[in-house]
Amino acid sequence: MIQVERSGQSCGARVTGVDLSRPLDADTVAGLRAAWLEHHVLVFPDQALDDDDLERFTRCFGGFGDDPFIAPIPGREHVVAVRRRADETSPLFAETWHSDWSFQAIPPAGTCLYGITIPPVGGDTLFANQHAALDAMPPRLRARIEGRIAIHSARRAYAPNGMYGAGDAKDRSMVFRPSKDAENTQRHPLIRPHPETGRPGVFSCLGYIVGIVDMDDALSGPLLAELYRWQTREAFQYRHRWQPNMLVVWDNRSVLHAATGGYAGHDRLLHRTTIAGP
Ligand code: SIN
Repeated sequence: MIQVERSGQSCGARVTGVDLSRPLDADTVAGLRAAWLEHHVLVFPDQALDDDDLERFTRCFGGFGDDPFIAPIPGREHVVAVRRRADETSPLFAETWHSDWSFQAIPPAGTCLYGITIPPVGGDTLFANQHAALDAMPPRLRARIEGRIAIHSARRAYAPNGMYGAGDAKDRSMVFRPSKDAENTQRHPLIRPHPETGRPGVFSCLGYIVGIVDMDDALSGPLLAELYRWQTREAFQYRHRWQPNMLVVWDNRSVLHAATGGYAGHDRLLHRTTIAGP
């Protein structure tokens, strides 16, 4: 019998009573999907999974999304390693808040991350509930973004001159694939209903959002920065503490997330899959 226990923070729930190393029946998948849409981040502790299990679980939530700028691990098309060695000095991967691959025409619905080597301190992942951020938004800020269309691009991160491009640290253990394709743009409404629940939320944030349609950069830059500060307030956050053999699946349409450091001197390794949007 599946048990779902709320985190007590702005989103997130811990799920027990299910063995993800075995195929799941349709009722169980429906129950897990319903819990995911309600809590936005599901945490499954004590799951001994290999990459086949991770891929099978991912397919319960949708097809595989496209990971354009990170090389998959050898022998797998859809699994990437979020990896950092104990002695690595490169800037932390994914430390700024984001919604995965929001620069795509159909951004991924969700992401699965499975903890393999977890440091004894630090390395938490933060999530910020974007329905709650919109619900509590001051009317004057909301009025400035209502009806606005955001311009998304991966260029700041994955273009050849981006953060993970040619100038990136040489000792990085993650394998990125910077490309001129990262300069492409896509447009999505800043406020949009969740495609499955209809609940409105703010979608993505400064970083992958590089501008606003019909607004000068001189105006959109400060607005996006103010919005980012609001979107990521502690009141909307869930702080996830990892354990080995723990699987987390989050809904990119409902939450932002960010990696944290604080584990220098310790290895960290997680395997990640992406759930395609509908
Ligand atoms: C990610 O954004 O996929 C990585 C999050 C983390 O390393 O905590």
